[in-house]
Amino acid sequence: MLPPLAPDTEAALLAAALAARENAYAPYSGFRVGAAALDAEGRIHAGCNVENAAYPQSQCAEATALGAMVTAGGLVLTAIAIAGPDTGAEGPFLTPCGGCRQRIREFAAGNLPILACQPRGIVARYTLADLLPESFGPGHLG
Ligand code: THU
Repeated sequence: MLPPLAPDTEAALLAAALAARENAYAPYSGFRVGAAALDAEGRIHAGCNVENAAYPQSQCAEATALGAMVTAGGLVLTAIAIAGPDTGAEGPFLTPCGGCRQRIREFAAGNLPILACQPRGIVARYTLADLLPESFGPGHLG
């Protein structure tokens, strides 16, 4: 597993992801998610999942956070935290869905830290390459 980041960085990302999760709009699944994206300028951009009565139109928390980052002019992601429900110390831990792994890849390299969070704290640390090996990215387009 990836070693911890600087304690203040981890604390800020955890707090932002949990705060965003408080605003999750998840009336259909009841599965509330928050995300916090750290950009290269040290700014944190938060997002929550936003569901829709037309179920396929729902948006993941990661997509909301990345949209906020890009809107703020951030194009380089340096870490992301994702907060889900308490599933105990053994998990399963919340990891980004397949589509969001690709969304994250657009703005980060394989060594990007991805922090899995619960209300109890950070419960697992991955790199993007752990979760999306041999990935396709912008560089493939030349
Ligand atoms: N969800 C996220 O927001 N992020 C993930 O990484 C996994 C799933 C949301 C989508 C949907 O609103 C709910 O969680 C249940 O799938």
